[in-house]
Amino acid sequence: MSKKRGIAAGTVAAVDPAELEREALAAVAGAAAVGDLEAARVEYLGRKSALKLALREVRDRETGMRLNALRERLEAAFDGREEELQRAELDRSLGEDVIDITVPGTPVRRGQLHLITQIRREFEDIFLGLGYSVVDGREVETTFYNFDALNIPPEHPTRSPLQTLFLDEETVLRTETSPAQIRTMEQQQPPVYVICPGRVYRRDTPDATHTPTFHQVEGLAVDEGITLGDLEGTLDYLMKALFGGARRSRFVTNHFPFTEPSVEALVSCHICDGSGCPVCRHSGWIEVGGSGMVDPKLFELVGYDPERYTGFAFGWGLERIAVLRHGIPDLRELWRNDPRLLEQF
Ligand code: DAH
Repeated sequence: MSKKRGIAAGTVAAVDPAELEREALAAVAGAAAVGDLEAARVEYLGRKSALKLALREVRDRETGMRLNALRERLEAAFDGREEELQRAELDRSLGEDVIDITVPGTPVRRGQLHLITQIRREFEDIFLGLGYSVVDGREVETTFYNFDALNIPPEHPTRSPLQTLFLDEETVLRTETSPAQIRTMEQQQPPVYVICPGRVYRRDTPDATHTPTFHQVEGLAVDEGITLGDLEGTLDYLMKALFGGARRSRFVTNHFPFTEPSVEALVSCHICDGSGCPVCRHSGWIEVGGSGMVDPKLFELVGYDPERYTGFAFGWGLERIAVLRHGIPDLRELWRNDPRLLEQF
């Protein structure tokens, strides 16, 4: 016990309440930090404080009431000061620990979509704008959908395990997105306007112009009165959307087992605009993909009336568009996934 207070603990008579209150309030006011205040609280209101000891020995009601009132006043004073000190400490720390919001942050490296994904989405946007839907095919296909239903004859070289990746005798990694045509037509009646983008597989050794995995977008339109003119108009629009509005289109005959007639689409070279350069091999024209009028045999297979409906289909490679449009010298670059290359697009 501090002698300073001049109170002999243990005797009620020894407590001078007025003096005690003055001293305690002075200690409260003088406490500069929460720690000091706690020490003073123990001294004046703790279990062994003069006040608590005196209260324990009180015999008469009046003294008891006076001392209790004093205790309450002191408790309130301590609580009030504690709040004040806490607030002051908070203010101080808020003032000192300033956050400088003008300091440049740590840059976060932003990723971006792979070029092939960008072109796929462009393709989808172009056709969604024409009223087509986007459907999903299967990467693992049966030989029925990948070959038979597409009128690909048993002796066709693509049926060889040297060209196609077989999982078992009747299951392949699809070699083209065209099986999606059959699956779509099996599931819905005309009119059909769909595209099916996706990954395809061929047993090719990777080199500058081949990768065993690549991407195609299949297109299919079946309705009454669809003609080769519709095919050409649609693909001309597609070429202009992908390669620029000034491009011209050309169509030459070709052969695919599931189209009759079959046509290869050519776009005027976007580098030399037709005058001849290495990209177009000095022809002025670039082949962009296969297409044709759907062979009526396919309609019979899926139960469409070939007398009533006609349709066109196409299947274009996305890597080819990327290589042509952006002058990528080696297809394998698109699979190496070096950000220094990819972030250029
Ligand atoms: N499936 C063909 C290929 O992978 C591309 C193709 C040609 C798709 C003509 C078609 C089409 O839908 O009509 O080479």
